[in-house]
Amino acid sequence: MRVGNLTIEPDVLLAPMAAVTDLPFRTVIEEVGVGLTITEFLSAHALTEGAKKAVDKMTPSLDGRRFGVQIFGREPETLARAAKMAVEIGASLVDINMGCPAKRVVAGACGSALMKEPELAQVLVRAVRAAVPADKPVTVKHRAGWDDRNLNAPEFACAMVEAGAAMITVHGRTRTQGFSGKSDRAIIGKVRAAVPSHVPVIGNGDVLTVADYVRMREETGCDAVMIGRGALGNPWLFRGIQQQLRGEAVTAPTNEDRKRVFARHVELIVAHSPPKKLVHELRKAVAWYTKGLRNSAEVRERAFHVLDPLQVREIAFAYFSSLDQEKSARDEILSLVDKQSRQVA
Ligand SMILES: Cc1cc2nc3c(=O)[nH]c(=O)nc-3n(C[C@H](O)[C@H](O)[C@H](O)COP(=O)(O)O)c2cc1C
Repeated sequence: MRVGNLTIEPDVLLAPMAAVTDLPFRTVIEEVGVGLTITEFLSAHALTEGAKKAVDKMTPSLDGRRFGVQIFGREPETLARAAKMAVEIGASLVDINMGCPAKRVVAGACGSALMKEPELAQVLVRAVRAAVPADKPVTVKHRAGWDDRNLNAPEFACAMVEAGAAMITVHGRTRTQGFSGKSDRAIIGKVRAAVPSHVPVIGNGDVLTVADYVRMREETGCDAVMIGRGALGNPWLFRGIQQQLRGEAVTAPTNEDRKRVFARHVELIVAHSPPKKLVHELRKAVAWYTKGLRNSAEVRERAFHVLDPLQVREIAFAYFSSLDQEKSARDEILSLVDKQSRQVA
């Protein structure tokens, strides 16, 4: 997929997620393989004021890999200055958040509240477009609309493109839905149909499996898919999508995969998290990587009661190894039963 001069390959992006898509998380997904990762949304005001918390979150990807920065705000000049800062640290694109439903964000008339003010939203896109070099795409991520009586995503997307947006991402829920109900693929399809064909439209919402990815592409005609929650503890979803796109069999992660990637994630957290947040970040990772696995509540409970990062890691490692042991014990029993039933026959 091309966004202006930028090639994004494979056709899958990691969604910006506040308190999730930090450098360690993005790196793990990039190492499995993804078209592009994007930082969590960063307040343009905080960035331009030099607020350390915001500036520290605007981190370039490792090893020179490309990345996007997402910003939010409603003052054209502030957004333009924040966008310049993003480009200065090497961002390949600047995404403007017009989809956040959070009360504190819409109270400031930012995020999804901008869907009620398309003219101001256009002014913001124009200001950012004018501030960054022509080869840096300016993109917009928004929702289906404010509520189900105002499903203006197709018109809104066209207005953003007219103002200079080079890519549109649509999360198929309204602001009032928050995260309830389902992401509506029909409205994403309508946005794809409305926006000029040279501007890619990215489908977003509820893609948890490779089959969901295929459905999103087929039903909406979108050019690529953006994945958020489905990536938590499951970077192999991105591997599966690449296998699917290459026409190969899709493989599930083995416990060895889990150990290797979890170890890498821990290594990155230890290297890049502020000391005060280290244990918290490690516990989050344990929760993500063990969710849905056998007896995982127990391992999370144990990890949540220790303060030493090394111990947190050891607890998770022992758990992943125990899954292997359980599996080989199960395989042994199954092969014994098989042997016995063949003898009886
Ligand atoms: C914890 C969390 C944080 C999020 N933070 C952001 C954000 O910073 N910027 C943004 O545009 N969307 C944010 N989102 C929305 C996601 O990018 C995405 O649009 C939404 O989760 C739907 O996609 P999914 O079903 O694949 O998760 C966030 C979602 C979650 C769950």
